[in-house]
Order: sequence, then structure tokens, then C-alpha cells
Amino acid sequence: MYRVLITDNLSPAGLKILEDNPEIEVDVRSGLSPEEVREALKSADGIIIRSATKLTDEVLKGQPRLKAIVRAGVGVDNIDRVAATREGIVVMNTPAGNTTSTAEQTIALMMGLARNIGPAYSTMKEGKWERKKLTGTQVAGKTLAVVGLGRIGLSVAQRAQGLEMKVIGYDPFLSAEKAAEYGIELYKEVDEIVKHCDFLSVHTPLTDETRDLINAERIATMRPGVRIINCARGGIINEDDLADALESGKVAGAACDVFTQEPPENRRLIDAPNMLSTPHLGASTDEAQEMVALEAAEIITDYLTRNEIRHA
Ligand code: NAD
Ligand code: MLT
Repeated sequence: MYRVLITDNLSPAGLKILEDNPEIEVDVRSGLSPEEVREALKSADGIIIRSATKLTDEVLKGQPRLKAIVRAGVGVDNIDRVAATREGIVVMNTPAGNTTSTAEQTIALMMGLARNIGPAYSTMKEGKWERKKLTGTQVAGKTLAVVGLGRIGLSVAQRAQGLEMKVIGYDPFLSAEKAAEYGIELYKEVDEIVKHCDFLSVHTPLTDETRDLINAERIATMRPGVRIINCARGGIINEDDLADALESGKVAGAACDVFTQEPPENRRLIDAPNMLSTPHLGASTDEAQEMVALEAAEIITDYLTRNEIRHA
């Protein structure tokens, strides 16, 4: 029997695949401390996580039974890959299952910013009727800059085009032909694209190159009244610099689904004017969670029972 530990919320469809497999025994435990995860891993052949569980060097060190980690989501940034490789543990993820949901969340936040849905909602709850103050802006005819044209970035671009926006993009790894196929005007420098948009949305992974990609220097060169969205990873946009720009009015509005620390203890950005925040909900739809859970369950089963590696 292979024992699979699940320490974050996994949709029932994924759990069922594992429970129905006579070769797999499932151990679902949420809300564990890092020390408790470390202990629980001693009797596990595999683990499935989402974002909350952090598999650090400390947690992964000396786990002779553990063979596979699957992240039910995009990327593996909450897993110490170097430590896992050193320990001979394979790390895999489910890159595509939540693309559509995260693109939809990005569009929802962009529209929310454009039409002041956040302040309209809260002022109505307070019994106010503030029509003049909450005049918004149309997105049709405006320019959206998409930074990072992978699965989600391209999906956002297509949706924005459906809203009659002009989409420009920056991605050093995307060919001009592919951008042209999607009707996206491709920029070669991030310093240039930031100057030419009314809305800017980031969709890169968080790496040494993308940390603070949108910072005070680049914000200073943007159009006054630009609106900025981050549904990718906290830290791609410098949070203090964004808060300053919201306070000065240089940035008319910003929306973030992700933060450098989650949940954020530093409230400065969240409390800044015209800041719309959601608690990392990009992938939180029934459909996306079912898809990533099914895929994660299949990936871990195939690895443990057939030694087959997917999306490592
Ligand atoms: P992806 O790998 O398909 O696309 C990422 C793109 O970023 C690639 O095309 C890559 O070439 C590009 N890129 C890398 N470095 C770059 C740089 N320096 N400048 C510009 N572009 C660069 O990934 P994806 O599935 O589209 O996911 C994008 C981001 O969204 C990731 O950070 C992922 O973790 C995040 N995400 C968030 C949620 C959420 O719940 N909010 C859900 C899913 C994914
Ligand atoms: C992802 O990157 O896939 C999401 O952030 C995952 C999640 O919501 O757990």
C-alpha cells in the first residue's frame, strides 16, 4: 500500500480517485504546523498540497519514505526543490487546471477597478448613495499591458480583446509570431511597455528576475491614472511602492489577489486608497479545484504505482 498525505483542501473528486484505488491509502490532515507535517511525512510515500503547506528544507530533510510531492496548482514555489532533489523526492504540479479561473478573476478585478465596484459595495452597505464620486472608466478602447504571456496571460489577453481592449504584451520567452497570432503587440523591454498602458496586469512566476518587476522607478514612467492588477504572485509588484503610488494618485487603482505574505500582516497596501484585494482566490472555483484535484490525484497515483513522471 502507498500512503498519500493531503495537508491542504483538495476537492472531493480528487480524493475519490485516491480512495477508490486499492493500492493507495489516503491520510487527510489540514491545519498542521510545519513540525506536524514533518512528523506525518515519515509514514507517507507521497503528499499533495496547494498553497498553504510550505515544504521547506527543514520539513523535507531526512524523509526516507517520501517519494513524490504534487502541488495541486501552478508552479512549485512553496516547495524547496533543491532540498527535495537532494532527498530524491520528485516534485510535480498541475499547470493548466486553473488557467481559466485565474484569467476570469483577473478580468473581474480589472472590471471592478474600472467601475469602482469595491467602494460602491461598501458605501451602499453604509447606507450611502455616492453616484458622482464613483464615476468609473470604460475599458473598451483602452490599452491593457500583459506582462508574462503564458497560459494565464494569453487567456487574459483573449478575454480583454473580447472587451474591445487593445492588448500589448511583454514576455522575453514568447516569439513575435505567437504574439501576432494572438493579436498582441509585443514589446521587447518591460521599461517600454509600462509607459504605454491604461491597465497593467502581471502573469509571470515569481523569480529573482521578476521580484519587484513593477517598482517605483517603473511606476513613475507610467501614464497618470494607470490601474494595476496582480493575480500572479505577491512580490512581482513592490507592495510599498504600489501603496505610495496609490496614495499619491499616480496609480488610480490597484487590485491584488496575491501578497508577499499570506495572509498579509502588513496592512499598508490593503488599506491604501482605491486598493481592491481578494484573498488568493484566483484558482478558487469549483471547476478549477476539481480539475487540479483530479490531475494531482492521477499524477501521484501514476508516479507511485507506475513510476510515471508528469509536469515535474
Ligand atoms: P506560465 O508558466 O504558463 O506562464 C508564465 C509566463 O511568464 C511564461 O510565458 C514566461 O515566459 C513568462 N515570464 C517568465 N519570466 C518573465 C519575465 N521576467 N518577464 C515577463 N515574462 C516572464 O504560468 P501561468 O499558468 O500563466 O501562471 C502565471 C502566474 O500566475 C504564476 O505566477 C502562477 O503561480 C500564478 N497563478 C496564480 C493563481 C492565483 O490563485 N492567483 C492561480 C494560478 C496561477
Ligand atoms: C496556483 O498558483 O495554482 C494557485 O495559487 C493555487 C492555489 O490557489 O492554491
